Amino acid sequence: MSSATDTSTGAVNEGRAGARPDTRTTRPRVLSLVQPTADSLHLGNYLGALRQWVPMQDDHDAFYGVADLHALTVEQDPKQLRQRTLRSAAQLIAAGIDPEKSTIFCQSHVPEHTQLAWILSCLTGFGQANRMTQFKDKAARGLGDQASVGLFTYPVLMAADILIYRADRVPVGEDQRQHLELTRDLAARFNHRYGRTFVVPEPHIVASVGRIADLADPVGKMSKSASSPAGIIELLDEPKINIKKIKSAVTDSDREIRFDVDQKPGVANLLTILSALSGTPVETLVESFAGKGYGDLKGAVADAVAETGGAFRERALGLIEERTELEAILAAGAERAREIASAVVAEVYDKVGLLPPAQGRSR
Ligand code: TYM
Repeated sequence: MSSATDTSTGAVNEGRAGARPDTRTTRPRVLSLVQPTADSLHLGNYLGALRQWVPMQDDHDAFYGVADLHALTVEQDPKQLRQRTLRSAAQLIAAGIDPEKSTIFCQSHVPEHTQLAWILSCLTGFGQANRMTQFKDKAARGLGDQASVGLFTYPVLMAADILIYRADRVPVGEDQRQHLELTRDLAARFNHRYGRTFVVPEPHIVASVGRIADLADPVGKMSKSASSPAGIIELLDEPKINIKKIKSAVTDSDREIRFDVDQKPGVANLLTILSALSGTPVETLVESFAGKGYGDLKGAVADAVAETGGAFRERALGLIEERTELEAILAAGAERAREIASAVVAEVYDKVGLLPPAQGRSR
């Protein structure tokens, strides 16, 4: 177990394999998705999740994609959802996910996810689902009784996304930990009841960047749904907009640059972002800013974000224009994903006792 993550190193990992369809035999499998609920991914998505996905595609059989069915758990404009789904796929590739190495797919193109989700929802206690804090937070944020049943069962669909590929590792931010725990529970419950079927997946959460905070309210996390525009760095925004937001980030009335999440959450967040983007340990940064002020720290963060964000933005905006190419990547991804997903659903249907449709006997 590495100190930076809580991911297990227990799964098989015997180096790179040759042809992709066989990679599973020699490499552990990784899976993760993003929701297409904004025009742009934000810095939290990038540092907390996507940055981990990129190196993992070199020593894992990787499945990455866009969770468009999850996006429907809150109201979406249909045209915008389609656009955002393609934009999200483009951003995964811009972040470094290589369609030659990874299976990149769109959740709704693999209908087996919802088939498995039904089976898993029949194994999920109402009380257990009711304890999911993300549902409570989102429902409390204005939805109240209007929150959909889909939002409530969201973590069960997420469990299906993961279990259907028998993923060994799931790189996500800290906010997904509880959903991963439910996924692990459901895998173990199914295996116990029906015999070994699913891999119990390990969360891969990098402690230092698992929860990038909101710039305007550094006690909260940077979030598509909860942050005010001032608190969130959208990677596809004009660099000058993001520079302005960083320069206006909330800090504290003190003047000292040190890493203290409880007493100085704003400064700690800026140090975290700079450390992640520059690869310099936080302690080294703190030493280098001795005697300097918050303006210097913000300037360094703005430069680092502009550098990484600029290259990302250019690649992503270019790819977004390549619609046919993106659609072809998603079609190839769905084909490979369905090969695996359909076999797992057939096995699950059989194990739980569903009668298979008789072949060629319809009248
Ligand atoms: P989503 O789209 O909200 O976020 C995508 C990824 O970004 C991480 N993240 C953060 N990490 C650090 N700091 C932050 N402030 C921050 N905000 C978001 C999220 O943890 C996530 O990893 N339920 C998932 C999508 C999903 C999924 C899956 C993930 C659907 N099925 C199966 C893994 C496996 C979600 O809402 O991600």
